[in-house]
Amino acid sequence: MASQSVAPAAPSYQADRLIADDIHAYLARHQNKSLLRFITCGSVDDGKSTLIGRLLYDSKMIFEDQLAALEQDSRTVGTQGDAIDFALLVDGLAAEREQGITIDVAYRFFATERRKFIVADTPGHEQYTRNMVTGASTADLAVILIDARKGVLTQTKRHSYLAHLIGIRHLVLAVNKMDLVDYDQSVFDAIVADYQAFATTIGIDGFTAIPISGFRGDNITAASDQTPWYSGPPLITHLEAVPIDAEADQARPLRLPVQWVNRPNLDFRGFAGQIAAGVVRPGDPVRILPSGKTTTIARIVTLDGDLGEAVAGQSVTVTLADEVDCSRGDVIAAAGDPPQVADQFEATIVWMAEEDMLPGRAYWLKLGTQTVSATVQAPKYQVNVNTLEQLAAKTLDLNAIGVANLSTDKPLVFEPYADSRALGGFILIDKLSNATVAAGMLHFSLRRSQNIHWQPTDVSRETLAALKNQKPVVLWFTGLSGAGKSTIANMVEKKLVRMNRHTFLLDGDNVRHGLNKDLGFTDADRVENIRRVGEVARLMTDAGLIVVTAFISPFRAEREMVRQMMQPGEFIEVHIDTPLAEAERRDVKGLYAKARAGQLANFTGIDSPYEPPEDPEIRIDTTSMTPEEAADLIIARIIP
Ligand code: ADX
Repeated sequence: MASQSVAPAAPSYQADRLIADDIHAYLARHQNKSLLRFITCGSVDDGKSTLIGRLLYDSKMIFEDQLAALEQDSRTVGTQGDAIDFALLVDGLAAEREQGITIDVAYRFFATERRKFIVADTPGHEQYTRNMVTGASTADLAVILIDARKGVLTQTKRHSYLAHLIGIRHLVLAVNKMDLVDYDQSVFDAIVADYQAFATTIGIDGFTAIPISGFRGDNITAASDQTPWYSGPPLITHLEAVPIDAEADQARPLRLPVQWVNRPNLDFRGFAGQIAAGVVRPGDPVRILPSGKTTTIARIVTLDGDLGEAVAGQSVTVTLADEVDCSRGDVIAAAGDPPQVADQFEATIVWMAEEDMLPGRAYWLKLGTQTVSATVQAPKYQVNVNTLEQLAAKTLDLNAIGVANLSTDKPLVFEPYADSRALGGFILIDKLSNATVAAGMLHFSLRRSQNIHWQPTDVSRETLAALKNQKPVVLWFTGLSGAGKSTIANMVEKKLVRMNRHTFLLDGDNVRHGLNKDLGFTDADRVENIRRVGEVARLMTDAGLIVVTAFISPFRAEREMVRQMMQPGEFIEVHIDTPLAEAERRDVKGLYAKARAGQLANFTGIDSPYEPPEDPEIRIDTTSMTPEEAADLIIARIIP
């Protein structure tokens, strides 16, 4: 990971590092207070660390001995007068953060008399967009920090756009370092007017502007004498008063995503999960999604006895009056006002992986407790996060934000993100590495996904196969260009036809003359090439055919995707294993020579990767057998 933006020669502190026991004791003490989650946006230069340090300090969250150390070190480092440099407190964690996990966000706890707080400190630079999105995803409020001497900057706009995109309902414009502009009201007013003009253009309909000095403590906990012209609340007072999302969510219709089904014995079936919205009471009519079955809530069970009611934010176990199907990933919802169900959507996607997004590749999509397989289409556009312009894009790279359509293999219970973060926000996970590669926000379902249904047909695939007196399979050849795929595949088909089998050979070069003539050799085009061929091969197995395919198909993920599309046992991966040096020596089409000469880009094995199968059903070593022998060996595997 690139080094963090903040790394002054500051001593390292453990100051706000509460160990687990402390957190428990601490939370217990503040149990009955409401919790506000917020993020701070800005860079160290804007005084972000100083502000956070100040908030922690003023709420006495720094332990006494650490405070003494801090005072000592402030003197060593040399700050103005006797003031404590609060930035030392926060920046001390920078070094630790550098070695941290890929997406790191520092969370800190503090509390006042009225409320408890979790503040996510997210790095400000553009290359940390994904960190900010991660930290912001559960925040009720964002503090956008501005240096009074600099005014509204590109980064201010970027942070505001992201905060708005993530659905943060409350924005505070903290105009910091007012002490350095002599607490001049006209400076403050000009910045607020400037920001207001910008905010309107991106749909932010309100914000609270506060003139502060994190360093001097002006308008942090108490109204400052230095700003008699400011009549609004100090920052902390505002943070204590702002409505919290969880409270607003209680007023919405019930949404209880089922986390797991608790079935200790045949007499009890409890559905456990965290209530995403609404209130639940015994007797409430509910609908189970996606099935749409209705029933009523029987009980709300806890270890300490049944509850008469539970609200958004609470984790509960409920039982239902009827024996309806309901499993992990289903959503128990208000019967009269259920969420939607669909399998095609438009969404905003924030790409978080080093590798570019591959349109057409199947990723896991996790939305609350639901996990499905999803493919994203090429973006409609990408947003330049600095100018907020919409740009044409074929893919999304690290930290890029774009809008694209996506489809899932199973229906998802969802709500637009603007209505519900819990049922509209999702992440995408790479199926092979299990890494989170993107975060996303659903806009709406595509109308076609509601109006297209599976049409049942009377002639089954079994009938079609029986008529041909065979079992359909796909012999999926993979290997380098020039490995011998087409030659062996051709021979296999000829032999099968001689045996009265019904076959079809799909060959890379041939399919690229017709169905896939719009595709080239970029990673994204290869993914789409294989996706289409996979769909065609599947239709052909439905028709009862033995399908032989000869495509380089260089990526494991797509070969795996095609395998999943087929019936169990019908996908036979055949690795035509010819070493690169040998394929290049043969160079039947002269393409390796061209690629080496720099006249052919993205050539597999040269400047485009090939991921060999790890566990193919059949491996053919072309250096130790003839194509004829290879063909016989393959046929022996499928025809007993
Ligand atoms: S795949 O990677 O998308 O599966 P496919 O099998 O359809 O590739 O096509 C590969 C054939 O296209 C090669 O056998 C070769 O004849 C031709 N070809 C042209 N350009 C390239 C390239 N850049 N990389 C690989 N093959 C290429």
